[in-house]
Amino acid sequence: MASMAARTSRLPAFYKITVPERRLAVAEATGVSAEALEAALDGGGLDGDVADKFVENVLGTYALPLGVALNVRVNGQDFVVPMVVEEPSVVAAASNAAKMVREGGGFRAEADRPVMTSQIQVYDVSDVDSARARLMGAEAELLDAARVAVPGLVERGGGPESIEVRALSADMLAVHVHVDCRDAMGANLVNTIAEALGDRISRIAGGKLGLRILSNLCDRRRVRVSCAVPASALATETLAGEAVIDGIVNASRFAEVDPYRAATHNKGIMNGVDAVVIATGNDWRAVEAGAHAFAARDGRYAPLATWRRVEGVGAPSLRGELEMPLALGTVGGTLRVHPAARLSLRLMNVESAQELAMVAASVGLASNLSALRALATDGIQRGHMALHARSVALAAGAAGDEVERIATMIVEAREITLEGATRALDVLRGAASSPRFKSPSAPRPAR
Ligand code: MEV
Repeated sequence: MASMAARTSRLPAFYKITVPERRLAVAEATGVSAEALEAALDGGGLDGDVADKFVENVLGTYALPLGVALNVRVNGQDFVVPMVVEEPSVVAAASNAAKMVREGGGFRAEADRPVMTSQIQVYDVSDVDSARARLMGAEAELLDAARVAVPGLVERGGGPESIEVRALSADMLAVHVHVDCRDAMGANLVNTIAEALGDRISRIAGGKLGLRILSNLCDRRRVRVSCAVPASALATETLAGEAVIDGIVNASRFAEVDPYRAATHNKGIMNGVDAVVIATGNDWRAVEAGAHAFAARDGRYAPLATWRRVEGVGAPSLRGELEMPLALGTVGGTLRVHPAARLSLRLMNVESAQELAMVAASVGLASNLSALRALATDGIQRGHMALHARSVALAAGAAGDEVERIATMIVEAREITLEGATRALDVLRGAASSPRFKSPSAPRPAR
């Protein structure tokens, strides 16, 4: 775990202050200077010239908001967690749930070693069983050849470590090379190995060489997160904590028996995971592919996280558990060149790809908790619409502190529409009057 023991992610009333004030607060909490934040984030976090080197046919860049999840405590350590996401309420929801989890001691997490798998397909094999025997007999030789293909990785203490042969049909097999990728996501490394070994493998197998590519179902690189939330932390204005626990367990059971619900349940988890994956310059399509393939591993699509009531002395608590494959890197690829991604890693202060995976998965479990708590109590729309109102206010032309005031006015008037916000803006600016819109008084939703 990271070394700054005094680091905190509890920054009360953070949402109430301005962006420059937030940067100062985060600078103080993380040791990353406000100037560094400014340099990396102003202008959208990515220079046009750098973007032109990233992909092809570049016309410009496309910015998304970068916020931070607060209150996140994993294995006794605090993390300020950058999240890049376009959906209102995701950052607030993760921070809010992380605060509840904190009351139960925070998240406990563990990550497998960073092992990725490359696949080499061989087809038109006349005898798959004897081909498998010959390939396994050549394992040492194949691993040696694989090591030669990735000398830098071997130097860093990683590299190919075993071979597996899977018969896929009467005449097709796939050879898996399992590779410890250390702090890299590893796609390029395992693809290099697959291409280096392909010819030799197809010759040994006596078949035709097919595809040579990583598998995104990286089930040897899983992360497991759990938390125990006291009932008192879950209570709402109108519902006791115990009733909320029962509602969340019911929501979990729904996802456990119904793939239609499980897909949405997992989407709520990925709200948190993906936002961290994107902020840290990682490949979210790879993460999504792995997560959903893993969710369907038993032949039926299932939730990645489940929730149960645990009876305790005095009051019960809510136990949540999440397990998923998560291939993230802290070196290489995009990270070398994307200033905002590099900044995100500095803010998090993670020491390894495994630690990054544990924190990202914890934010995923927090996002799931927040969604289920809302669904099991008030419904999702109340909090969601309150935050959505800010985007509507912006779209209507509100600026500066008008945004917050217009958002409050249209929420109170139950008119969260562009027309409503436009009329409220006229009222606020004194250009019109309306009985529907009163001067703002309601506080912003708590987080
Ligand atoms: C919305 O982005 C995510 C939720 O639909 C997740 C869920 O239903 O659990 C609220």
